[in-house]
Amino acid sequence: MELLGRRQLLKLAGVALASRYLHSPTSALGSTQQASPFPTPPLLPLTRAEPGVVEAELTATWADVAVAGAPARLLTYNGSFPGPLLRVREGDHVRLWFTNEMEEVTNLHTHGLHVPPSVDNPFLTVAPGETVLYEFTIPTGSAGTYWYHPHLHGHVSRQLFAGLSGAIVVAGPLDSLARLRRAEEYLLILKDLTLSNGVPAAHSVFDWMNGKEGDLLLVNGALQPVLAPRRGTLRLRLLNASNARYYRLQLEEHQMYLIATDGGFLEAPVGIDELLLAPGERAEVMVQLTREGSFRVLNLPYNRSGGHMMGNSGMMGGMHGGGIRGDTQTQTLLTIVAPPAPKTVSLPSRLARIDSIDSNLASVTRQLVLGGGMMGMQFFINGRSFDENRVDVSGRLGNIEVWDIRNRSAMDHPFHLHTYPFQVLSRNGVAEPFVAWKDVVNVRPGESVRIAVPLRDFTGKTVFHCHIVEHEDQGMMGVLEV
Ligand code: C2O
Ligand code: CU
Ligand code: CU
Repeated sequence: MELLGRRQLLKLAGVALASRYLHSPTSALGSTQQASPFPTPPLLPLTRAEPGVVEAELTATWADVAVAGAPARLLTYNGSFPGPLLRVREGDHVRLWFTNEMEEVTNLHTHGLHVPPSVDNPFLTVAPGETVLYEFTIPTGSAGTYWYHPHLHGHVSRQLFAGLSGAIVVAGPLDSLARLRRAEEYLLILKDLTLSNGVPAAHSVFDWMNGKEGDLLLVNGALQPVLAPRRGTLRLRLLNASNARYYRLQLEEHQMYLIATDGGFLEAPVGIDELLLAPGERAEVMVQLTREGSFRVLNLPYNRSGGHMMGNSGMMGGMHGGGIRGDTQTQTLLTIVAPPAPKTVSLPSRLARIDSIDSNLASVTRQLVLGGGMMGMQFFINGRSFDENRVDVSGRLGNIEVWDIRNRSAMDHPFHLHTYPFQVLSRNGVAEPFVAWKDVVNVRPGESVRIAVPLRDFTGKTVFHCHIVEHEDQGMMGVLEV
């Protein structure tokens, strides 16, 4: 694994040089845009009543906030946009009191956490005025970046777009590696938004087909903030909390080193020139700043209807029914201002130990076909629309399953499974370059992605779905019963 990482790193070193054609750092901000300082989401206050037990309160409510310097009324958790950061440790027993202070039904999902489906229950409805206790234990070995958001079928798209989401960071023993501790750590929640008269814009018919993308590309709720670290080595936790936007991330003049994915640490850092983050996905990267200066974190064009956009084509972003979905222009997400003569520290050479799943041990191989009907107005898995009273997949506790996910539609779908983290085995028959724990995997049109799913620890009913939440709300979701 380590060898593979290194080889890839060498190969990619050449790519990093090629990326220097990018704009000079002085043009870091658009002329009209005021530089806002980099905001950090507030910490969710925790009470540690007994050793190992943390209690917290989360309330979904409308609130007045500022977005890109303008007042906005959004749906929030505890009045903040994005929601407060739940920061816990492996092994913590969490008691999370959730109150719905909205005039509409909702519920809460702890995306990516390996906790019982009876607790992280997508079938639960939390009525207006109701308080519900979510009580679970953070598994050992799960250190990483997760998130929470509403998950009531039919209501997710609007509520998520309107502001309801927050990050969960699980700390573990590996975080105390000196080479990780010497890095300066930041959380970056990527969530786009369109405001209309100060409130979240409504969905159009096209939004329901393609997934709604906002025109403000916000980082922790701010537009093109400036991050000015004191140290030369950064650890960035990235979360794509957008309804439908894909982020193809690049840092000007720098390589990034991927150290963690959805389910936590990799075995060793992997050098990358760019990072594609589909809706729902998380990643952690480390960066060693090479010199004093301003470097933009860019969102490169990405066509989520089947192919990379190479450069700016001058095509309109407004083509909906057909060819292009996703960003056609390079955009600036934030600017990192490196300190004078940044001192960097070495990256860790070893991270987690991950047992790669032997797919020969799989008890069953299933095929899941992502598709649709009615000219892109309907969304199916295996030809069927979501029905909470139907079980689509029944598995046995303790078994390993292989799922072959096929996309027979004309656009990318980020496939997500609750409760049971998986490993990606191959894409179109090509083995994945490194082993990692995932809970979202992007599947491109025509692609077949094989994943290995260990059905560990918990029985119950949960769901798998497309994380373009408009597709999920319209039925691209199925029920798994273990
Ligand atoms: Cu992030 Cu089923 O969701
Ligand atoms: Cu989830
Ligand atoms: Cu989809």
